[in-house]
Amino acid sequence: MKVMDAIKKRRSARKYLNKPVEREKIMECLEAARLAPSACNAQPWKFIVTDETQRKNELAREAFSGIYIVTRFAAKAPVLVAIVSDPKWLPRAGGTIRKTDFHLTDIGIAGEHFVLRAAELGLGTCWLGWFDAKKAGRVLDVPAGKNVEIMLSLGYPAEEATIGNHQRKTMDEITSFNGWGA
Ligand SMILES: Cc1cc2nc3c(=O)[nH]c(=O)nc-3n(C[C@H](O)[C@H](O)[C@H](O)COP(=O)(O)O)c2cc1C
Repeated sequence: MKVMDAIKKRRSARKYLNKPVEREKIMECLEAARLAPSACNAQPWKFIVTDETQRKNELAREAFSGIYIVTRFAAKAPVLVAIVSDPKWLPRAGGTIRKTDFHLTDIGIAGEHFVLRAAELGLGTCWLGWFDAKKAGRVLDVPAGKNVEIMLSLGYPAEEATIGNHQRKTMDEITSFNGWGA
């Protein structure tokens, strides 16, 4: 599949078939993430995959609780992936000067590699930003000081999984050439 085809095929999947995802396919997605670029090649990430039902349910119960209950749909996905940041000093120092967090950009790129490879393999994903990171970290034994930045749900999408608003801004709204207002 061409990259642009995978980009067009990908949609946030919020309903999944009750069918496990083969480990080989999960590994394919992880390999795509592993190859992602990062500031100073720091690779400031760890992907914690939960594909064992009991463990995954435990994570979902904790992570999608309280004000995060709206994300409970993701509990039905057979796989949850927590992306934990592991920032390195050089890009962190550069990021402080630049007033940015390079490790978050890096994680975004790696996560999207994962997601696009999943789309290519016929799998559905949803980026999940609305969850209890502290509780998720506790369930996953993430060491103190490290943060679960974002999660992904993964599974075979149900047919109606991707109904929703996929509208995008127009090209004119998001671009200009040679200056902000041009
Ligand atoms: C960083 C990030 C966080 C997101 N968090 C959530 C979330 O917590 N719950 C959810 O249902 N969708 C979440 N999404 C999915 C977006 O709502 C979705 O990508 C957007 O509406 C566009 O739809 P599409 O992915 O189907 O093209 C998130 C997406 C991104 C990139």
